[in-house]
Amino acid sequence: MAEATVKRTGGGRGRFITFEGGEGSGKSTQIKALAQRLEAAKLRTIVTREPGGSPGAEIIRHLVLSGMGKLLGADAETLLFAAARDDHVRNVIEPALNQGIWVLCDRFSDSTRAYQGRLGNVPPEVLNAMERVTIGDLKPDLTIILDVPVEIGLCRAAARRGIGAPDRFEAEDVGFHRDLREAYRQIAADEPQRCVLIDATPDPATVAASVWAVLHDRLLTTPAGNAVNSA
Ligand code: TMP
Repeated sequence: MAEATVKRTGGGRGRFITFEGGEGSGKSTQIKALAQRLEAAKLRTIVTREPGGSPGAEIIRHLVLSGMGKLLGADAETLLFAAARDDHVRNVIEPALNQGIWVLCDRFSDSTRAYQGRLGNVPPEVLNAMERVTIGDLKPDLTIILDVPVEIGLCRAAARRGIGAPDRFEAEDVGFHRDLREAYRQIAADEPQRCVLIDATPDPATVAASVWAVLHDRLLTTPAGNAVNSA
């Protein structure tokens, strides 16, 4: 598990790792910790987020989180997330992966599946069509889903926010956040090859150790237990 076992032989495409989870699940803290660990292992890494991550997509982020998208209805709001994703994939994610850089992304298409699909009732065929346009064949190599009881997550989100107003999704009721947690657990159960559900209740260092163990086993070692080319 130590960094010393990570062998970098250079060349090749970077790896695409996404983090998902409900409000207050600790994604940003865990992404930062993982990025530091990958950099220490001499793997070039960028951290990005959705909605956002590119100048055009950040403008859409502002619009969506202000609640403007909600006024337009779930389908139109989904289109806004798709437009942001399209810009982000083309201008940030794909170019980085092609340069051999590891991309750590705070939320990606599973967020659309969970928030707009399961909770907004946007039909799967609409989501599939949008995915075809925005991400094509791009699939995360690994998706870490941070799972935390809703009460704990919402408390953490409120503490982080301080006196600021909750954003468009934080402001939804507890039932919404319970359904969201279920939606993520279902995604993890449906796609075990790509997704790993991690208990995000413990302290950040403990969760970071779990994340690193998963990443190491899935992306940095062969089935025989040898370190592999990682960049
Ligand atoms: P966050 O960056 O603080 O997690 O805020 C982003 C919010 O946007 C979060 O509540 C989830 C929501 N969201 C969607 O509803 N659909 C999406 O496709 C994405 C990427 C985010």
